[in-house]
Amino acid sequence: MNILLLGSGGREHAFAWKLSQSPKLGKLYIAPGNAGTAQHGENVDLNPQDFEAVLAFCNLHQIDLVLPGNEDPLVAGITDFIRNKSNGSIAVAGPDQYASQLEGSKDFSKQFMMKNGVPTAAYQSFTAENLEEGKVFLATLQPPYVLKADGLAAGKGVIITSDLAEARAILDEMIAGAKFGKASSTVVIEEFLHGIEISCFAVSDGETWRMLASAKDYKRIGEGDTGPNTGGMGAISPVPFADDEFMQKVANRIAIPTFEGLKKEGHPYKGFLFMGLMNCNGEPIVIEYNVRMGDPETEAIFPRLKTDMVDFVNAIARGGLNEVSVELDERTAATVFLVSAGYPGDIEKGKVMDIPPPGAQSFFFHAGTKLQDGKVVTNGGRVLAITSLSKSIGLAAEISLVAAETVKYEGKNYRKDIGRDLEALAQ
Ligand code: AMP
Ligand code: GLY
Repeated sequence: MNILLLGSGGREHAFAWKLSQSPKLGKLYIAPGNAGTAQHGENVDLNPQDFEAVLAFCNLHQIDLVLPGNEDPLVAGITDFIRNKSNGSIAVAGPDQYASQLEGSKDFSKQFMMKNGVPTAAYQSFTAENLEEGKVFLATLQPPYVLKADGLAAGKGVIITSDLAEARAILDEMIAGAKFGKASSTVVIEEFLHGIEISCFAVSDGETWRMLASAKDYKRIGEGDTGPNTGGMGAISPVPFADDEFMQKVANRIAIPTFEGLKKEGHPYKGFLFMGLMNCNGEPIVIEYNVRMGDPETEAIFPRLKTDMVDFVNAIARGGLNEVSVELDERTAATVFLVSAGYPGDIEKGKVMDIPPPGAQSFFFHAGTKLQDGKVVTNGGRVLAITSLSKSIGLAAEISLVAAETVKYEGKNYRKDIGRDLEALAQ
C-alpha cells in the first residue's frame, strides 16, 4: 500500500516509523516531512493545504491512502476533497470536514457535546451581537474565567484569567478587536474545571471503535509547569490514574456518544480522536476534542503500540476495524522533548546536530529538524522527542534524560521533571 503522510513534526516521524515496520507498506511519502521522516520514506515538497496539488501527487504516485497528521487540512476539508475527486479510490484516514468541526469550532463542539450528553464545562457563546451580554455573563461566574476563540488559533486561542476586568477586556479584544482574526469573532466562555488534565485517544472506522491509550502532555516550558505554553515539552503514557474504571468511563460517556452522535448526523467518524479531558475527582470531563493524534502524545504512545500501523490506518479509512485489535506494551513510556534556546519565543535555526543512535529502550523522533548538506540541523523550536520504555515512569524518564545528554547541538534545552508529578501521585 502506498501512503502519503501529511505533516512535519515528531508525531509524523512516529507515524512514519510505525508505518515503515509493516510488511504491507509499499512506498511512503511524507509532505513535507523532516530529517527523521526521511529515514523511513521520501520527503516531498508539497503543501498539505494545497488540495489540488496533493490530489495530483496522489494520482501520479498511485497513492492508496492519505494520512493527515495535523488538523489544518482536516478542518479545511481534505477528506471530502480527496474522497470525492478520486471517487473513493484514494482513502483518507481522517474525519470529514463536518466532523472535523469538533476541533475546528469550539462552539460546534460545545453544542455537539450538549446535544449528545457528553460531559463538559457549562458555557455560553458570544459574538459582536451580544458582546455586552458576555460581559454580564462573566460576572455571574466564579473566577478563573476561561475564554476560548471559536476557531483554530494555533493553540493560542484559550485565555484564562482570574481578574474580571481583564476577562472583560479580553472578550472585547477577541470579538471587537479581532485578536485572533475571524477565529475569535465567536468566543466561548466556560466554567473553569479543577483537576488533572489527561489526553485520551480512540479510533473509529465509522462503524466500530477502539480505545487506544491515555497520555499526559507537559505543556509549559519550565519545570514544575511554569512559564509560557509550548507545543509540548514531554509526555507520559499510560497515565497511572487512568485505570480500567476511568478508561471505561471515557469510553462509555465520551467516545461512544461522540461516534454515535456523528453517525446519527450522517458523518461517521473515520480517524483518530483525541479527547482532552480533566479528571475531576475521578470523573472525566471534556476540555476539548482534537480530530487527530496529539503531539507529543503520539511519540509516547506509538512505541508502546504493537498493532500493525498499515492495517490500522487502512481499517480506519476503509472499514474493518472490527478485525484489528489494539495491543500495547505493558511498559510505561516517557518522552522528553529537546528544544531550541529561546523557545517558545524567538529561536535561531540551522544548528548542526550530533545524534548518536539511541539505546535499545529508547526512540528518537525528529520534529524541527532538516537535512542540510548531508547534516541534520535544527529547523524549529521543538527539535527532537526522546521516548524510552521501562517498568515505571521514573525509570523511563531517567533513561530518556540520559539519552538527552548524548544529543548535541548549540542551545539545547529540555525539562528534567517529566512525569515527576505523576510518580508522586502514584505513590
Ligand atoms: P484547549 O485549547 O481547549 O485545550 O485549552 C488550552 C488549555 O487551557 C487546556 O489544555 C487547559 O489547560 C486549559 N483549559 C481549557 N479549558 C479549561 C477549563 N474549562 N477549565 C480549566 N482549564 C481549561
Ligand atoms: N498535545 C496537544 C496537542 O497535540 O494538541
